[in-house]
Amino acid sequence: MSTFPLPPPHARRRFRRSLLAWYRANGRSLPWRTTDDPYHILVSEVMLQQTQVDRVLPKYLEWLTKYPSLRALADAPEDDVTATWRPLGYNIRPRRLHAIARESVSRFEGRLPSDEQTLLSFKGIGAYTAGAIRSFAFGQRAAILDTNVARVLFRVFIGRGDPKAHAMRRRLWATSEVLVPRKHVFDFNQGLMDLGALICTARKPQCPACPLSRMCSSYPWTPGDRA
Ligand code: ADE
Repeated sequence: MSTFPLPPPHARRRFRRSLLAWYRANGRSLPWRTTDDPYHILVSEVMLQQTQVDRVLPKYLEWLTKYPSLRALADAPEDDVTATWRPLGYNIRPRRLHAIARESVSRFEGRLPSDEQTLLSFKGIGAYTAGAIRSFAFGQRAAILDTNVARVLFRVFIGRGDPKAHAMRRRLWATSEVLVPRKHVFDFNQGLMDLGALICTARKPQCPACPLSRMCSSYPWTPGDRA
C-alpha cells in the first residue's frame, strides 16, 4: 500500500477558515442550497454532474413540481421521465434517477438512507453522490470529489504530478476527507464547488481573487500548468 502526505492540521484549519469566509461572502444562492431534503439534493447533484448550473436551474424546479417525491418519481412511467429530462440531453441519467427512486420505494419506503454503505449499494449512486447526500442532506462529515473539487485540491496541496492518475485520485479523496470540518459541512462542500466553478477554473483561474492563493502550491499559476 502506498502512502502519501496529507495537509497538516494547521493547513487544514487555515483552508477551512479561508474557504468558509469566502463562501459566505461570495457563494451563489441556488435553490438546492436552501434544502436538506435528500431527494432534492439527489436530483440537483445528478443534474449537475454533466450540466451547467444555469441550464439545471429551470429543470430542477420543473422536475420537483412534476415529481415531488421519490414515490411520485417511482410511479411515473419511464417514457415520461426521460421526456421531462430530454432538454438536458439524451443520456442515462434520467433512467438512473428513476431506478434509484424505485429502489428507494422497494427497499426503504420511498426514503433515502443516510449511511455510506447503504447509499453506495444503490445502483446509480457512486462515491461523489453518496458524499453529497450525506453532507448536504444529513449534515455528516462526508467528503466530496468531482472534477472541480479535484482541481482545487490538486492545485492548492499538490501542484505536481498527474492530476488524473489513479493514485492521485486516491490522494485527492484522502485530502478532501481530512479537510472536511465537523461543523459547517454543508457550506464547506458547497464552497469547494463554487471556488472551483468561479475562481479556480480550469483555463483562467482568478488567483488575485482567491482566498487560498497565499497557501496554494500552484500560485503563481502560469498557463500550461497541469490541472
Ligand atoms: N456542481 C455539482 N454540485 C453542485 C452544487 N451543489 N452547486 C453548484 N454546482 C455544483
